[in-house]
Amino acid sequence: MENKPLNRRTFLTFMGTGAAALAAATSGLGILSETAHAETDNLLRVKPKKKGFEFQPIDATTKDELVLPKGFKYDVVAAYGDVINREGDTFGFNNDFTLYFSIENSSERGLLWVNHEYTNPLYVEGEKVNGKYTPAQIEQLLYNQGGSIIEVYYDKKDNKWKMDTSSTHARRVTGLTPFMLTGPAKGTKAVSGATRVQGTFANCSGGKTIWNTVLSCEENFEDTAQNAGLDQTHYGWVIEVDPFDPNFEVRKHTALGRFNHENASMGIAKDSRVVVYMGDDKKDACVYKFVSKNKYVPSLGKANSRLLEEGTLYVADFKKGKWIAMTIEAVQKAAAGKPELLEKFQTQGDVVTNCHEAAILLGGTPTDRPEDVEISPFDNTIFIAHTNNDKHGNLHGHITRFIEKNDDLGATEFEYEIFAAGGRQSGFSAPDNLTFDSNANLWTVTDISSSSLNKDAWTSFGNNGMFVIPTIGSDKGIAFQFASAPAEAELTGPSFTPDEKTLFLSIQHPGEETKDKNNPTSTWPHRIGEKTPRPAVVAITGFKF
Ligand code: FEO
Ligand code: CA
Ligand code: CA
Ligand code: CA
Repeated sequence: MENKPLNRRTFLTFMGTGAAALAAATSGLGILSETAHAETDNLLRVKPKKKGFEFQPIDATTKDELVLPKGFKYDVVAAYGDVINREGDTFGFNNDFTLYFSIENSSERGLLWVNHEYTNPLYVEGEKVNGKYTPAQIEQLLYNQGGSIIEVYYDKKDNKWKMDTSSTHARRVTGLTPFMLTGPAKGTKAVSGATRVQGTFANCSGGKTIWNTVLSCEENFEDTAQNAGLDQTHYGWVIEVDPFDPNFEVRKHTALGRFNHENASMGIAKDSRVVVYMGDDKKDACVYKFVSKNKYVPSLGKANSRLLEEGTLYVADFKKGKWIAMTIEAVQKAAAGKPELLEKFQTQGDVVTNCHEAAILLGGTPTDRPEDVEISPFDNTIFIAHTNNDKHGNLHGHITRFIEKNDDLGATEFEYEIFAAGGRQSGFSAPDNLTFDSNANLWTVTDISSSSLNKDAWTSFGNNGMFVIPTIGSDKGIAFQFASAPAEAELTGPSFTPDEKTLFLSIQHPGEETKDKNNPTSTWPHRIGEKTPRPAVVAITGFKF
């Protein structure tokens, strides 16, 4: 490959692939013959728009600012500690996944679900006293994780997105909120007999259900559970919340397995069963999908949530191109002659609770930290961000693309390719969250760890960023940088409004390496009168349609 990114970024404007793809599709030429798969019969399942995502790509930078291309701006809609409603609830720490829910089909007023992944003791709960947290500190630790439901609107007069703190919908779901368990582990000894558990935390990324609720994923739950004296087996699940309805009982779907869940991407199989793709963000961990037993029935609305209670959990075997069904029968067969494992795996509840161990036993392929998984709305291929894995010398990660047999999400066979690789040649390192726009561009944020940023093998990348990678057309696989994060921050959870004129984005852990509050390594969002770096959610505007 030529040494392209510097030239392209400097001299070209990112035009989006829509115009090219549409031209090729209508002329019957070009990209249809470019590759064998995917861009054939299923191409343009959803037609790309003609235009709308043009921007002048930015260069990597180390500036303590959210840097955007010319013509774009951001508004901070909510930052750590901000009051979100009349009850005085406050916005949690280290915001991650965001998901916009329209109110009355509006792209200018809606509810925003926001994950809160973890805290920083320097700014939240304080340091341990004699190696332990006090009850008050534990409350802080748990309250500031979980999720926020905030109401956001575009104020035309001020030309600004704002939070509506008089909202009757705005509320918190936290490490203190009671949850019910569903599925095979509920009430079993694998989860100490629990049918209800306390709270959610370590909420990293997530997804939207077809019935308009949010799935939020518990990732690195271990330390918080330990520090709060909670049962480890009650965490590491996918939770479901209805932002509009506080009476929809918040729940953890154990059928989707327990591991270090990054996100959950829902689609539908050709026979209408519901499919959820998921990554286990650990070194040498697996890619999973859940396929429901029963079929999606649109008229049932939110009662379709029950589909997530019963089905088959599969783990990906990359070598054979097969999805392995993780049934108790299969696990017991694989454990034959190993009394310790047979003791451990007696029920399906044991399988879903000890998912990684069962997956490896069955031949699931250990991979390089699978984070966000997204289903392309254009051709039903599956994109998986493999962030990195220094154990294998994979320092910059890659984005893998699965092609399910017959493009059916319910298939049990697949092929895969490396869609894009991190590194100097592509300009990005450590791909993490992904989201599609309607031009088949994959918006990709990066997660180079704060301690590695701007040194050694990561010197050329500057701060973490956001990149736009076309998945069809002549620029397929090429990364164009759209944003650069403030110092030591990670950009997470990009989500568009339906009209795609606004992109919500989390700025997580600015100034993460700060040791002394009086001398922070970042002061973003640069609030007047304070030096505190605050995780915050921003609304980016400037897209022109
Ligand atoms: Fe919370 Fe895998 O990032
Ligand atoms: Ca992540
Ligand atoms: Ca995503
Ligand atoms: Ca990450």
